[in-house]
Amino acid sequence: MTNQNNTTIKFYSGEQIPVELHKVRIVQKLFLKPIDERNEAINTAGFNTFLLNTKDIFLDMLTDSGTNAMSDNQVASMLQADDAYAGSQSFYRMEKAAREVFGKHYVLPVHQGRAAENIISQVFIKKGQVIPMNYHFTTTKEHMELNGGKVLEIYTDEALKIKSDVQFKGNIDIDKLKAVFEEYGSDGVAFVRMEASTNLIGGQPFSMQNMRDVRAICDANNAMLVLDASLIGENAYMIKQREEEFQNAEIKDILNEMCGYSELVYLSSRKVSSTRGGAILTNSEDLYLKIRDLLVLFEGFLTYGGMSVREIEAMAVGLIETCDDTVISQSPLFIKYAVDKLDEAGIPVITPAGALGCHIDAKGFLPHVPQKEYPAGALAAALFIISGCRGMERGTISSIRDENGDDIIADVELLRLAFPRRVFTLSQTMFVVDRVKWLYENRDLVGGLEWVEEPPLLRFFMGKLQPNSDWTGKLIAKFKADFGDSL
Ligand code: F0G
Repeated sequence: MTNQNNTTIKFYSGEQIPVELHKVRIVQKLFLKPIDERNEAINTAGFNTFLLNTKDIFLDMLTDSGTNAMSDNQVASMLQADDAYAGSQSFYRMEKAAREVFGKHYVLPVHQGRAAENIISQVFIKKGQVIPMNYHFTTTKEHMELNGGKVLEIYTDEALKIKSDVQFKGNIDIDKLKAVFEEYGSDGVAFVRMEASTNLIGGQPFSMQNMRDVRAICDANNAMLVLDASLIGENAYMIKQREEEFQNAEIKDILNEMCGYSELVYLSSRKVSSTRGGAILTNSEDLYLKIRDLLVLFEGFLTYGGMSVREIEAMAVGLIETCDDTVISQSPLFIKYAVDKLDEAGIPVITPAGALGCHIDAKGFLPHVPQKEYPAGALAAALFIISGCRGMERGTISSIRDENGDDIIADVELLRLAFPRRVFTLSQTMFVVDRVKWLYENRDLVGGLEWVEEPPLLRFFMGKLQPNSDWTGKLIAKFKADFGDSL
């Protein structure tokens, strides 16, 4: 049985299963290579999962960015793409969809989310100003700091707790926000930023009530509210699930209300519309004019903004499809399935289940590996070796060094296993859960990492590391003893 609010199916056993409400029509072959070849691949990649080649990967759970499955209608729409430097009909179709879904009149395309961050930071941040927010995202923070701004994270006390029953760990702490305005004054605050489904703390949503409260404080201080809407669909879905007022609301109405509280909305359409690209949206002509000329300089003409017209067509369709409960619920439901199974097995994983992926707490998983030896990076490498599943380190490697050259130890040390929309099946999900359980049983065998090559900027993308002892050899030997010839 399904209903609008719950797209799981009740099995005869009583278990609620997130049965796939789509059929697979185009498939791609995957390779599950033997453990020795996986080990060779991660060594070549410098123990950095970003540097793996997908020919060596079984389940690619690095990210949901640009990897969500497209629908038949999205792919079909790409055939009618109108190649034109200026005035492409593809853009006007996307603009119409974006206006409908986000309730914003001005739609400015960019090549991806960070391009929006670059332009917004250049236009709206003056040197020395602060930007209060629920939590930073890596590229967001870099762009803001490059433009002389300072990020202030004003999350609630619950936000960084791994295990919690609090449904909206992505909320801004309202008292802290008031205190920011008291300390810095309206002129000292560039704008307030809210990130939907707060990425780096485990895809945790904020509530509509929190957004209303933030809006009221922005009004009182004449401040602009900027919404990072890259994962807004999932945040809206969780508002519908978790905030009583919205249990019968349409996703599109929730999206419209969220965007209505924000003067400026920006997004990575690599996530929200299951395409590639991005956009900045506003209803203010004044803000639009401030952004427009830089956009033409950095991204391209206003009717493509660095995106291919094919992607723009698919984005138009994808935005509308994001409002469909069966589309937007699939990834959160699979994440919840994996999180519940791991939690039941006593494995430290962020609860409640959020958006984007299942987030394993590497500090709790590997308490014997100190943060300066990068437990989340080590866990990502270990999981790849024993399963061929590629996750992403979201911990101290993704952080930076301070002015003395010391690591800034991350607040949370996470291995993120992303669930791109409608990509994996339930048996694949069961496989990764099984291998994480095995790894947890054998966690004492996993050691730390040390740098071999460390780039100064966004080091997690291109940096290379190595194990700080022969722990991988011992892990592989135990795997072979337990699994024999099985992959
Ligand atoms: N904002 C948020 C909340 C994001 O999650 C991302 C990207 C961006 C902005 C930047 O967008 O990649 O299109 O330039 N997140 C990806 C991830 C990279 O894997 O979580 P982009």
